[in-house]
Amino acid sequence: MVANYWRACGLCRVCFQGDPMPRPIQATISVSALSHNLRTVMRALDQDCSAGRQRPSVWAVIKANAYGHGTDEALRGFADAEGLAMLDLNDAVRCREAGWGGPLLLLEGFFETADIEVLDHYRISTVLHTSEQLDMLEQAQVVHTIDALVKLNSGMNRLGFQPSDYRAAFQRAQALQEAGVLGELGKMTHFARADDDPEATRVQLDTFYRATEGLPGRVSVCNSAATMTPGLAAQVVAPDGQWVRPGICLYGASPYAHRSAADMGLLPAMTLSARLISTRMVPAGAQVGYGYRYTAPCAMKVGVVACGYADGYPRHAPDGTPVTVAGVRTQLIGRVSMDMLAVNLSPVPAATVGSPVILWGAAGPSVDEVGLACGTIGYELLCAVAPRVPRRIA
Ligand SMILES: Cc1ncc(COP(=O)(O)O)c(C=O)c1O
Repeated sequence: MVANYWRACGLCRVCFQGDPMPRPIQATISVSALSHNLRTVMRALDQDCSAGRQRPSVWAVIKANAYGHGTDEALRGFADAEGLAMLDLNDAVRCREAGWGGPLLLLEGFFETADIEVLDHYRISTVLHTSEQLDMLEQAQVVHTIDALVKLNSGMNRLGFQPSDYRAAFQRAQALQEAGVLGELGKMTHFARADDDPEATRVQLDTFYRATEGLPGRVSVCNSAATMTPGLAAQVVAPDGQWVRPGICLYGASPYAHRSAADMGLLPAMTLSARLISTRMVPAGAQVGYGYRYTAPCAMKVGVVACGYADGYPRHAPDGTPVTVAGVRTQLIGRVSMDMLAVNLSPVPAATVGSPVILWGAAGPSVDEVGLACGTIGYELLCAVAPRVPRRIA
């Protein structure tokens, strides 16, 4: 319990001691759930690859502040991962300075010539996906060599060399390897529909094999959806080794619409909780919140929760979005305000001011359920939790 309190007089800021009591909302991050999820993913890969094949190595993806969970917490939770992958060079440096000794991979690579010195100094690996990056490397002087994955655009049309340009780009990377600028080289692509369309994924994989055939180096193609699709990672042809890149599943959320995280044995690593700050009985026909979006169908008890869109809860959440109050599942009603939202207390009439509310996470609806109700995905909700929400590390 943090000593947040006002001194006896409680009236002026002069005699204030410590921090004021925060609003009753918090995001609890479970480091043990992060570790559990990593072990679950590794076990799934182990089972998949049992026929004498080595389990692929895991880059735990920790971009976007570890999907909203915090880079430091991810470092602890994913201590047993073979590597960490992120976007931001500063995050990679922070991991190295915090003592992470394993591989670090920048998923979008570097953006400026000046970044190369940092990659070199901190031994950070890079994705190469543009000829501009190769141009910069061709002008660079390094002390060590920099490991790199050359990325193919196999159909998603986001990042990567076109199949027709891939071989030439890889040969430029090999020349840089011979010149002592690049170290270990590998081949990479990213799937657009591993969550819902095996055929589209097969076509991307075929494109990958055709474009990279005969080129040496480790292979990295699988995100969470591909990693957790039974048999997929095991089928990837990678004689020089395979590295998977799971993100969302490590945080205990699902990459699939049709398969829950719980079904995969994953645990939610973030619980967004709050408390009721007001309750009232309203008569049939009473309206609730901005725009009077919700009209009470009968006399009912309504609760107000200390969580709003300024905390990262989606403003467009519709009536019916699941929420748990005092251990009982109920629904959001009315439009979400900046700092508050309303819930139907009919299923939990004993709820009072101070009753605990779980917006998502352990003992509440899953973040995927809330995302589904709101027409988005758990990824977005986890990343959007606002800095003003106090965090507790469990
Ligand atoms: C290149 C790359 N690899 C891996 C991932 C991890 O994806 P997921 O969180 O779906 O596992 C991402 C996320 O968007 C990505 O951009």
